[in-house]
Amino acid sequence: MVNVMMNGEWVAPEDAKISVFDHGFLFGDSIYEVVRTRHGALFAAGMHLKRLRYSGDQIGLELPWADTLMHDEMEAMAKSVGGEAYVRLVITRGPGPLSINPDGCVNPMRILFGKPLEVPAAHVYKDGIHIHLSRIRKNPLSKVKGNIKTGNYLDHVMAFREALAHNCQEALLLNHRKQVAECTTSNIFWVTRGKLHTPSLRSGILKGVTRQIVFYLAEQQGIVCEEGLFPLEELVQADEVFITSTTRDVLPVSVVGEQRYPVGPITRRLMADFDAIGQVDHLDLKF
Ligand code: PDD
Repeated sequence: MVNVMMNGEWVAPEDAKISVFDHGFLFGDSIYEVVRTRHGALFAAGMHLKRLRYSGDQIGLELPWADTLMHDEMEAMAKSVGGEAYVRLVITRGPGPLSINPDGCVNPMRILFGKPLEVPAAHVYKDGIHIHLSRIRKNPLSKVKGNIKTGNYLDHVMAFREALAHNCQEALLLNHRKQVAECTTSNIFWVTRGKLHTPSLRSGILKGVTRQIVFYLAEQQGIVCEEGLFPLEELVQADEVFITSTTRDVLPVSVVGEQRYPVGPITRRLMADFDAIGQVDHLDLKF
């Protein structure tokens, strides 16, 4: 069961409909965030709302609602689910003329979804997941401050289909320069000789909330983390690999393409620290 709220109104899921003239539907002209609860409370909601504003700014979509309103609605949605919740906030450009020009769209839609949070089975955190190395190249929308979290996920959907066909749980995309970028709905990290590595925002990736929290946890442990533009060979030679995302936290990786990796001590350390972190918005992490 998925609960739905549209522009502040609760709507039965079967009645939750948008116009076929909504540019979110016609052109993927929309932005979104996925937030989860931990111990019953929204986790890192402040960071997610900052990224939502950033995404809106980048596509020239003004969000005419206060953060407090969006926060309160996300909280109400999480409560309506009961137990740990997955909350998705989608903002579409709204209905307009049948034209690429977004100027005629004057009523953006604010749509909230809520459902019970599904997390990977416990054994996956012990054994690690398999990642398919996709042939699809990532098309970055912003090269400097992190990609925009938009409804344009077709390259990622195609890569995920490849992953399924290869019995993998995720797919890794390289960018057009064949540098390591990110997975379909997660960021990637690896450890080489005790040092953490992850693609920089310039590789065209999303600035993941979980990624930023891992930077903080690594710093607390004195683990050095290098952000950079890395060829695939760097990942192939790594000692440990893991991915990060809102719904999976820090999740070990045992296979990328043809290469196998053990679940190593730094991954296990960061997994344990992430489990213990509690709330993060008060930490005022750079975002
Ligand atoms: N996805 N990269 C991409 C392309 C993503 O879609 C996501 C998140 C991430 C990780 O970001 P964060 O740590 O903020 O969740 C990286 C969400 C969970 C989703 O679309 O379901």
